[in-house]
Amino acid sequence: MNRQEIIISAEAFAKHRMSGFDSGHDWYHIERVRKLAAYINNKEKLCDPYTLDIAVILHDTADSKFNKVDSENGYKIIEEFMQKAGLELLIDQVINAIKNVSFSNKKSHGDKNDPLLKVLQDADRLDAIGAIGIARAFNYGGFRNNPIFIPDEKPEGLSKSTVGHFNDKLMKLKGLMNTKTGKELAEERHRYLEKYLEQFFKEWGFASST
Ligand code: ADP
Ligand code: NI
Repeated sequence: MNRQEIIISAEAFAKHRMSGFDSGHDWYHIERVRKLAAYINNKEKLCDPYTLDIAVILHDTADSKFNKVDSENGYKIIEEFMQKAGLELLIDQVINAIKNVSFSNKKSHGDKNDPLLKVLQDADRLDAIGAIGIARAFNYGGFRNNPIFIPDEKPEGLSKSTVGHFNDKLMKLKGLMNTKTGKELAEERHRYLEKYLEQFFKEWGFASST
């Protein structure tokens, strides 16, 4: 297979593996992250564009949130795919990036300083903030049947509500960007989250006497 054929087969593999995921983690998430990752990498020239594209396409296919099997099994399936596609030389780097991209995955393993991981992580995180990030968060919360907001929920920790998830994760992402371009892109999206929460609490606190 030539490079273009490999990309097409990686796309088919990812679409198949992600079918049944919520809309925030569907194929359009991959398309958005591909554009963001390519944009960041074009500006900063941090890693090989082809390897980056493969990593983005595959990055959510082993997600244990959606797979009945655990992530380890998911990584094995990615490895098998990459082997069959003639990508054995990229397996270690791509699997390392996929294992480390997750915000919730705090287990320390592998090279956290690989530029491939840094670009992939920034692109994935940008899609979790801004207007799209808000849509994804409420969609995921609905998918899990979580409440939109619990007024007396503790501000930190593993929140049950989606507004709680903003504080647990989304509001922190701007400060966790790895690249200069990622930081720049995060600014506007972060401000949008702040404005959104301000309006949310204004409406929630509506008092009939005012
Ligand atoms: P990561 O891989 O960085 O841990 P996830 O795949 O868990 O990220 O999350 C991707 C997106 O799914 C988040 O940005 C958010 O939109 C949504 N999400 C994940 N967990 C929750 C949650 N508890 N409540 C609402 N949205 C969530
Ligand atoms: Ni993702």
